[in-house]
Amino acid sequence: MDYSYLNRFYTKNRIERIQALLDADVLTADKKSQLELGMHLSKDAANNMIENQLATYELPYGAALNFLINGKDYVVPMAIEEPSVIAAASSAAKTIKQAGGFTATTTDRIMIGQVALKNPPHAAETLQLLTDKEAEIIQTANQAHPSIVKRGGGAVKLEVRHIKTDELENTPEFIVLHLHIKTLEAMGANIINTMMEGIIPYVEELTQSKALMGILSNYATECLATATCRIPVEHLQKGAFSGEEVRDRIIDAYQFAYVDPYRAVTHNKGIMNGIDGIIIASGNDWRAISAGIHAYASKSGQYRSLSQWKKAENGDLLGSLTLPLPIGTVGGSISFHPAAKMTKAILHYENAAELESIIVSVGLAQNLAAIKALVTEGIQKGHMGLQSRSLAISAGAKSEEIDWLSRKLKQAENMNLATAEKLLEEYRQ
Ligand code: MEV
Repeated sequence: MDYSYLNRFYTKNRIERIQALLDADVLTADKKSQLELGMHLSKDAANNMIENQLATYELPYGAALNFLINGKDYVVPMAIEEPSVIAAASSAAKTIKQAGGFTATTTDRIMIGQVALKNPPHAAETLQLLTDKEAEIIQTANQAHPSIVKRGGGAVKLEVRHIKTDELENTPEFIVLHLHIKTLEAMGANIINTMMEGIIPYVEELTQSKALMGILSNYATECLATATCRIPVEHLQKGAFSGEEVRDRIIDAYQFAYVDPYRAVTHNKGIMNGIDGIIIASGNDWRAISAGIHAYASKSGQYRSLSQWKKAENGDLLGSLTLPLPIGTVGGSISFHPAAKMTKAILHYENAAELESIIVSVGLAQNLAAIKALVTEGIQKGHMGLQSRSLAISAGAKSEEIDWLSRKLKQAENMNLATAEKLLEEYRQ
């Protein structure tokens, strides 16, 4: 990839941007044509994807730049409606790139499936029985989905939990069996659910008790990705704030989000701006990923900041973010949705672990951009600049009117819809 073709990318028009991606070797010629035409989901595909389909719902699809992760350059596609997200991610990624880029790591990609037994007659014996039969349970699960085993994956480990609590009136006692399953390149919901339902008859017979359900867990604590960055203070100076001040204020912002759930939710929403953008663009299940990530933010018993910002011994700013990221690179709409296929082509990732590394790095960049703006010039300056175009569109501006009105709105005392409509009316007269 030759990044020099992507200089001043945001100043180009759409066709020029797509051409620049071709020149930079991000896109092949056929993908370039497809991107120019727009990546429409066929009527047939859409109709067969869901029940009672009526139409499709579109989002802007754009590219965040400057991501250098583990020494490799990326252009990161995002599907997002919020005007400032791509600009913010690209700007923070640029700072991090100047400082050497992101380092990202992933754990083994292990997913979890659950079977819950309600009120087993003898809990201690049932726990022991299940533990003793680990090999048989794993074998039964793997027989329920032999193709994943043939490809080198499948169930690999059993854990058993006993949940006994009087938190709710008449709470039943549960024995919960967890299977750890390697789903390889797939997110694996169907594989896991098939396996979990597949072991229920064996487990019921073995324990002489009734299963309540068998299903995957979206709390993917065994499929984690971590991104870190190290930024010397000379890259952090902003306006009247010195690099040291910006570093210290970013650390304060992290500590605020660590101790206060009201702030933590907004801090993490900033992280999710980027994560959801790329997850949607990649065709993955963003509801599953979001549910797991927010649960992970509460792993200490309190909802906290997902990211961490600290001062290194030499004074550099150290950032880190760990997330459960049970994404897939095959299966479901990932394999046929034209935008998901485009995302795969633009990212040039080799496997799901690499995609996880990209996604977690995007989250860290997005967080840095947000909290750096918040603790320096405030968020509205940058936000409103970009919001002006959306306001112009909401006011009914078309083509060249949008540029004109957005410029006028930036100079206006009150940038709101009423002002936009008034200015547009004057312009048209
Ligand atoms: C807005 O979409 C995201 C922020 O609120 C994130 C944050 O407060 O850290 C700016």
